[in-house]
Order: sequence, then structure tokens, then C-alpha cells
Amino acid sequence: MTTHTQQAKASGTFSLGGDLPVTRLGFGSMQLTGPGVWGDPADPEEAVRVLRRAVELGVDFIDTADAYGPIVAEQLIKKALHPYADDLVIATKAGFTRSGPGDWRPVGRPEYLRQQAEMSLRHLGLEQIGLFQLHRIDPKVPLAEQIGELKLLQQEGKIRHIGLSEVTVEELEQARETAEIASVQNRYNLADRSSEALLDHSEARGIAFIPWFPLATGELAKPGGPLDALAERHGASPSQLALAWLLRRSPVMLPIPGTSSVAHVEDNIAAAGLSLTDEEFDELTAAV
Ligand SMILES: NC(=O)c1ccc[n+]([C@@H]2O[C@H](COP(=O)([O-])OP(=O)(O)OC[C@H]3O[C@@H](n4cnc5c(N)ncnc54)[C@H](OP(=O)(O)O)[C@@H]3O)[C@@H](O)[C@H]2O)c1
Repeated sequence: MTTHTQQAKASGTFSLGGDLPVTRLGFGSMQLTGPGVWGDPADPEEAVRVLRRAVELGVDFIDTADAYGPIVAEQLIKKALHPYADDLVIATKAGFTRSGPGDWRPVGRPEYLRQQAEMSLRHLGLEQIGLFQLHRIDPKVPLAEQIGELKLLQQEGKIRHIGLSEVTVEELEQARETAEIASVQNRYNLADRSSEALLDHSEARGIAFIPWFPLATGELAKPGGPLDALAERHGASPSQLALAWLLRRSPVMLPIPGTSSVAHVEDNIAAAGLSLTDEEFDELTAAV
């Protein structure tokens, strides 16, 4: 049931893989861990409240990864939200090993990707993962083998859709020779548009584009940042403008802003209801 409190719904819907609808403004869970995306967050109870508040406000698309913590973010999602609402889609990832804070090393060997899919099913308490993303392509393993294993997991019903992360147009097309790809997740925000070609390519093919660092890790949300003056004029927060710009940029855009605080999750989700005029969109595009 959609109530007036479900603000996120105003961002509209996108169908992942053509058959799995999600509300476009989602939530990213990487901030719910310790420094360097390692270990527990400073305030685990607040992390639980953040996740519950996001869902209360209409978010039904949550991005996570086995590598966040590792395991910490997935377990918090389960603690906060299990048993899950029927419409909740959890997108997790595999393909990065962790050896310490800030340390990320790709491993894409098929048996490892399979193990991590099984671990994510267990840690999240799911029978099927809605969207399973290859966190990074492992340059040491043929891409067809990495995607081939994900396709097997899909055929076995363990994952519903396959996504990629940090890829080029060429890599996306190469992966599509092995399996259908429902989404790509690359760094993209007002201040970093280096993945513009991938975005346009994805839009033309109905593939979701999930921009990570949508707030440029908070740089676009900070007081005194580049969006301050425009935000004041608009009666919105800088973070809301940055997210409204992303939502307006493409109908396949699914922003997943991350935060460890309830106040910020409320601020971010209110961006769903913010519509920009053509002039405002152009002004923002030119501002940063
Ligand atoms: N595929 C990949 O390789 C990859 C890489 C990185 C991230 N991701 C995904 O993308 C998601 C989003 O990225 P992110 O969380 O790192 O960066 P982000 O969304 O760009 O920014 C998060 C930062 O902004 C701050 N912030 C959030 N809302 C704010 C607000 N309303 N006002 C002021 N500050 C605010 C947060 O601090 P507070 O906690 O204090 O609010 C945090 O420091 C992640 O959670 C993760 O799911 C994927």
C-alpha cells in the first residue's frame, strides 16, 4: 500500500530485467560498516533504524555487497528487515576479497563467486537474490567464465538478475554475449560524469544504471559545497538537488545514496518529490 509517507515512490519505478519493479530512489548500505568499510559501524542500532526508516519511506531497492564489512552490511539488513516485504529487492555483489580496512582485491574464479552467492543467500536470509552483481571483473579470469557462473546460478534459481560494476561499454557488450545483464553500477554523480557513455548505452537498451557515490561521498551534500547557493534558492538541501539531478538525468538511473544517520536518510529520500525545471536541470549540469 502506498501512503503519503512513502516519499521514495515519487521517484517512479524501473523494472529490473523487464520483470522486477523497484522504486528508482534506493539506498546503499556501504556506510553501515566501520572505517574503511571494515567491521561494525560505530552505532549498529542507528544502522538498523536507518534501514527501517528507508523502507518506511518507500525504499524497496537496497544495494549491498558481501564485501561491506565484510558480511556486516548484509547481516544488518537481515536484522533490520527480515522477514522481508514482498516488494523488497536486495541487490548484493561478489567478486572482491577483503584483507583489511580499505583493501579490496578482485577474485572472479567461478567457484569463489558461487561460494559468495551461497553465503549471501545465508547472510541475507533469502531464497533468491533479486540482483547479483559482479563487483569487479577479475582480469585474471576470462570474463565468460565469471558471467557463465552467474548464469548457472540464475538457471538454478539462486539469483534472479545479473548486474555488473565498474565496466566499460565494451565489457558490458562482451558480458552480454554470455548472459542477459540487467544493470550496471559505475561511479557517477554531478561532479564525475566519466561514465556518461555507459549511461547512454544502458539507457538505449533498458539496462539499469546504478550510480555509486551519487553524493560524491558527501562532497555534494556538505554545507559550503558547490550546490549550497542553488539549494538555498530552491528551498532544498544540496544532497536533494544532487539526487534530483540524477533522477532527472535518465529514466534508467537508480541512485543509491548511502548514510549512517536517520536524519540524512530522511533528507535524501525527500529528493524523490523534488522536480527540476529544464532551466534548473541545465543550471545544475553547468554548476559543478
Ligand atoms: N559498485 C561499487 O564499486 C561501489 C563503490 C562504492 C559505493 N557503492 C555503493 O554506492 C552506495 C553509495 O555510495 P556511498 O554511500 O559510498 O557514497 P555517497 O552516497 O555518495 O555519499 C555518502 C556520504 O555522504 C554523507 N551523506 C549522505 N547523505 C547526506 C546528507 N543528506 N547530508 C549530508 N551528508 C550526507 C554520508 O555521511 P553520513 O553517514 O554522515 O550521512 C557519507 O559520508 C554505497 O552505499 C554502496 O552501496 C558501490
